[in-house]
Amino acid sequence: MEPNVSFAGRDIINSYDFNNQELCHIMDTAMIYEKRVKSGEAIKDLDGMVVATLFFEPSTRTRLSFQAAISRVGASCIDLGNASVSSQAKGETWQDTLKTVDGYVDAIVMRHPTSGAAIEGAEIAVHPLINGGDGSRQHPTQALLDIYTMRKEAGHIGGQTITFLGDLKYGRTVHSLGDFMTQFGNKMIFCSPEELRMPKEETKRLRKAGAEIEETDDVAAALAKSDFVYVTRVQRERFENPEDYEKVKGSYILDNKLLKKAKKDMIILHPLPRVDEIAVEVDDYPGAAYFRQAHNGMYLRMALLGLVTGRI
Ligand code: CP
Repeated sequence: MEPNVSFAGRDIINSYDFNNQELCHIMDTAMIYEKRVKSGEAIKDLDGMVVATLFFEPSTRTRLSFQAAISRVGASCIDLGNASVSSQAKGETWQDTLKTVDGYVDAIVMRHPTSGAAIEGAEIAVHPLINGGDGSRQHPTQALLDIYTMRKEAGHIGGQTITFLGDLKYGRTVHSLGDFMTQFGNKMIFCSPEELRMPKEETKRLRKAGAEIEETDDVAAALAKSDFVYVTRVQRERFENPEDYEKVKGSYILDNKLLKKAKKDMIILHPLPRVDEIAVEVDDYPGAAYFRQAHNGMYLRMALLGLVTGRI
């Protein structure tokens, strides 16, 4: 039976905009795309459509996995490129750029350094706008691929414990994933240097939605009771004062020594890019899922493109 959910024409802006049924439908759709790609099918679901990628901030995974996803669903991609090759260099505002590109395409993926830019962008664009990360606020497509990965790696999602380790202040991926963990009834342990604690308004918002949250400085104790650890780098680009970054950089590192204290079969996630917060030696640990997680992003983004364009 088809689920009673429709995504056609919808913007993807915040993780808290989805209900449980919608999340499961997106993951199931991604799973079907993963099977179709792996079977070698040349998919034409978005044949004749054009999708724009507008990245006003650096990206490797989100930009390229969306571009790969666009190709793999049979659509064409137009990309803004960096500021030096677009009219950004002449002083055009991002709002005018978006308004212009909206007239060329069927859907838009946008990343912007300003928190809230995705909300404003969705009001400007007529076509579906997918938030590829806005400032330190939200990164919903990352959180969607995170839960897709959790379900694949653990066989289910719900009733588990996850430690968020790292920069919880500026890390938009943890803000988005926190919403989904609350929805699925996963307990969260927040573990970070004092300066990078989860913003109080985020914790309050999550608790109001029913989240079970523990905050601690004891990384080993947190890992000993966690089914997942979600590590993030210190978001250097968000610091106003470089000296503040210097004070906290390198203050937590997941290495094999620390991993020995973790719960058996704990799964390690990281949105990437990594700087030094997970030692390279950990990559050989079977539960180190972060590169598999990045690969899952393409299937998840194929699903989103198919759904918001109404082609599937
Ligand atoms: N995880 C993530 O958003 O990576 P990029 O910054 O490389 O897109």
